[in-house]
Amino acid sequence: MILSSLGDGSISLSDSLVSTLRDARSIVVLTGSGVSAESGVPTFREAQTGLWELYDPHELATPEAYQRDPKLVWEWYSWRRELVEKAAPNPSHEALADLERRLPEGLVLITQNVDGLHWRAGSRRVLELHGNIMRSKCSVEDIAVEAGADDENVPPSCPGCGAYLRPDVVWFGEVLPVGMLEEAFEAARGCDLFISAGTSGLVQPAASLPFEALRSGAVLVEINPNDTPLTRHADYALRSLAGEVLPKLVKAAFGGQVRGGRSGH
Ligand code: APR
Repeated sequence: MILSSLGDGSISLSDSLVSTLRDARSIVVLTGSGVSAESGVPTFREAQTGLWELYDPHELATPEAYQRDPKLVWEWYSWRRELVEKAAPNPSHEALADLERRLPEGLVLITQNVDGLHWRAGSRRVLELHGNIMRSKCSVEDIAVEAGADDENVPPSCPGCGAYLRPDVVWFGEVLPVGMLEEAFEAARGCDLFISAGTSGLVQPAASLPFEALRSGAVLVEINPNDTPLTRHADYALRSLAGEVLPKLVKAAFGGQVRGGRSGH
């Protein structure tokens, strides 16, 4: 493992890493909440603020909490949606969108984040393993659907069947979208470069993806200022903020300025 980090917090990129990225024919990038942290999106683990500081997020993001008090859970997600809407994609998101534009068929972006910032930065081949907080779905029919414009109920009702709506995210104890998970593992098995950025690598099944890539012979790069269970397995462990190193890496490998993202959805 090549550990890259200079004492002053800046990052040195080895020639071998840059050429590995430039020569890769199939790249998978897995992102976690650390990538969105630089956009000011609080992670679960950061203290909740205001009214919500009294609640444990792990208690709210569950089907049981929603069954028990759908209004409370819906209001918590409305609060989180407002935070996400105020946030903007950061240089990490933009560098990954730029990488996709340079490798339209060669990059699969898998994210555990539910904030939709990759899409807003211009990434289009995104597997949102844990869903998207900006989308709602019917709690009975399990289909993505939005509330009627005049629906003032909390939670609003499904226009089709009248059941409560819920956020289109995967709650603790729920299964991930099966087809998408299979696509993610297939991409990990088929890539020659796997980049894990901004994730603690603790939550399954996403945490197994880098190991699947390693088993298939891929080069593994980790971008995280802290140690994780993945660090000692990485070929390159970049102790840096993703927003600093991803734009540098893309520019070093492909030249030119990282182009700004397209407008979001
Ligand atoms: N750049 C890179 N990494 C960062 C940055 C940054 N700017 N800031 C923080 N990190 C790292 C932290 O060191 C930590 O290892 O990001 C990681 C964030 O870890 P978690 O908070 O556990 O988030 P994540 O790995 O995405 O959690 C996975 O668990 O909370 C549930 O469903 C939720 O999708 C989430 C899943």
